[in-house]
Amino acid sequence: MRPHRLLPGPLRRRVRRLLARSGYEVKRVRGAGVVVDQYRRPSFDVSTELPEGAGDYLRPDNPRLAELRKRYAAADSPMSAHSVWTGDYLRDELDLPWFRGDNSYVYQFRNLGSDARMKYYVYLRDLATRDPADLLQRLGEDGRFGCWTFHYEGWPRVSRDLLDSINELYFLDRRLQLLSHRDWTVLDIGAGYGRLAHRATSAVPGIVWLCADAVPESSFLCEYYLRHRGVTGAHMLPLDEIDARLSEHRIDLAVNVHSFSETTEQSVRGWLDLLVKHHVPRLFVVPNDGDRLLTREPDRTRRPIDPLLAERGYTRTACEPIFLDRSMPRIMGMDDHFLLYERLPREPDGSAPSAPPAGSAPPAPPDPSRRAPPAASSSTSS
Ligand SMILES: C[S@@+](CC[C@H](N)C(=O)[O-])C[C@H]1O[C@@H](n2cnc3c(N)ncnc32)[C@H](O)[C@@H]1O
Repeated sequence: MRPHRLLPGPLRRRVRRLLARSGYEVKRVRGAGVVVDQYRRPSFDVSTELPEGAGDYLRPDNPRLAELRKRYAAADSPMSAHSVWTGDYLRDELDLPWFRGDNSYVYQFRNLGSDARMKYYVYLRDLATRDPADLLQRLGEDGRFGCWTFHYEGWPRVSRDLLDSINELYFLDRRLQLLSHRDWTVLDIGAGYGRLAHRATSAVPGIVWLCADAVPESSFLCEYYLRHRGVTGAHMLPLDEIDARLSEHRIDLAVNVHSFSETTEQSVRGWLDLLVKHHVPRLFVVPNDGDRLLTREPDRTRRPIDPLLAERGYTRTACEPIFLDRSMPRIMGMDDHFLLYERLPREPDGSAPSAPPAGSAPPAPPDPSRRAPPAASSSTSS
């Protein structure tokens, strides 16, 4: 009897469907039964149950999601000129209630291959050697909403969401002393479901984190997730309110993690013009292509973003591999870089400023009178 005929038809289909929801595909191969296909396709871990009400709320026909879709379409914003993040992409990648699985927001297995478990252990041990604020213990991971987690004896449970967030926060701390800036306001462009917003507000009480996005599904999930985590220091800004809401704040830093690389020049121009309008002095970017920051156009061509930044006075002042240990990129198979841009005052002759030495003090913030009253600090760790 062939292995996949061991079960009667309806039960077999049910098992197949259940496995598919977790990213497993049942394939017939010579001499064996099941092949795990988790390293090529979206997947999520159902072993942690959804919180109460999540399945009912996180539905494609939720009225709040319908409202956001309508508003984003009506806004006719340059930021909505999409290439990658279209309806098809989301349909293939995303199962709403399991939004923290391995999907278009955070790859968890697909980029690491079959030794992912070992690689996450190396990543954890690397961060543990440079974690003065004890973020691995303080932030934690509960595996909710389908997130794949890894547990190694004697260590806290971890996930890609947790490890990447801690790594990003320490880069920002090395360069800008972020962990001490409890009065900063940060604009997160392409904030996804609010991964970094949740982690940053847990790590830096008092910081205000504004989550912007041009994809209604992302804003919908972000709003839900921040509420679920009880985060009051972070807010989702709907696309058609962003400009007005930014006028209420002094923005100290903008962040863009794996987002500009997934959209068009038209959209990036829109976001950069907004940063200039609101006098944002610093921009942190993590591109998808090593240290190269490129758009992705609908015809699949790529265009450089650095000239757009330079036109607006932003100079690249830091570019670091995301791992400080030089062996790590090869072990992990990841060549990602952290980039920092600063908008420096022009030279007296109007020429572009030269970049300050790496690690130098950040430029003075703009007019403090534009700062909104500090929001109540709050954050919940997972
Ligand atoms: C790979 S996900 C990264 C999410 C988040 N930054 C993180 O690191 O967890 C890319 C994000 O970019 C957003 N995005 C796609 N097109 C965008 C655009 N034109 N403007 C702003 N954000 C966009 C998506 O909605 C998604 O949230």
